[in-house]
Amino acid sequence: MIVYKAENKEDAGRIVGNILSAQIVTKPESVLGLATGSTPETAYERMVKLYEQGDVDYSKVKTVNLDEYKGLSGDDSRSYRFFMNEKLFNRVNIDKSNTYLPDGTESDSETACTDYDAIIEGLGGIDIQLLGLGCNGHIGFNEPAEYFSLSTQCVDLAESTISANSRFFSGADEVPRQAYTMGIGTIMRAERVLLMVTGENKRDILVRALNGEVTPRLPASILRFHKNLILVGDKDALGENF
Ligand code: F6R
Repeated sequence: MIVYKAENKEDAGRIVGNILSAQIVTKPESVLGLATGSTPETAYERMVKLYEQGDVDYSKVKTVNLDEYKGLSGDDSRSYRFFMNEKLFNRVNIDKSNTYLPDGTESDSETACTDYDAIIEGLGGIDIQLLGLGCNGHIGFNEPAEYFSLSTQCVDLAESTISANSRFFSGADEVPRQAYTMGIGTIMRAERVLLMVTGENKRDILVRALNGEVTPRLPASILRFHKNLILVGDKDALGENF
C-alpha cells in the first residue's frame, strides 16, 4: 500500500486529482472507476483545473461509477448521474456516451445489475478505481454483510447510510431505500484502487478497515488484499496510524 498524507481535504483532492489525471496522460483511453459523495469533490475540482490548463485530454476516457440510487433518473438533482455531470463530465471534454452508472430507472434489479456488469466487462475492466469510505466501512454501497459481493447488486441501504446521505435530500424520508452498486469482486479486479479518506469522523473506521480483521462486516477491509492500493488521506483521517 502506498500512503499519501495530505494536509487537509483540498490537499487530498489535489493529490487524488493529480493521480487520476496522470493515469489519463499515460493512457489516454483509460477506464476510470469513479465515486460520488463529499469526499471526491476536491479531486474533481483539481481534475477540471488541470483540464482547463490544457494538461489532460478526456476525449478517449471512459468512466464507470460505483453506484446509483434505485428509482432516481439522471435528471434528478439528487442522482449520482446528475452529481457526476455537474462536478466533472460537463466541465471536461469527455464524451458523455462513454460515461456509465447503473441505471437507476431500471426497476428490474436483475436486469439493472447484469446490464451494468456487461458494460464493465465490455470496457475490459477498470484501470483505477476511486473509492470513498462510508462511516460503517462500506465501499460503493456495499454495506456490512455476511459475504463479500462479487458483482453488481441491488442493496438495501443501512440506516446509518440513509441518515448520512440525508444531507443531500430534504430529509431522511426522501432518501431512496435501495441502490445499485458495483460489486466488491469488480472493485478488487481494478488494476489500482485509490482510497480517498478525509475528516476525523472517518479515522476510527479507516484504522479498523486497514489494520484490523478482514471481514465482510467491514467491507473496506478487503482492500488490504488488493495488489495496488493507494491511500490518500488528510491528517484528520490518518492521524498517527499510517
Ligand atoms: C459514493 C460511494 C460511497 C461514498 C461513501 C462516503 O459513490 O460509493 O461509498 O464514497 O458513502 O461518502 P462521503 O464522501 O460523502 O463521506
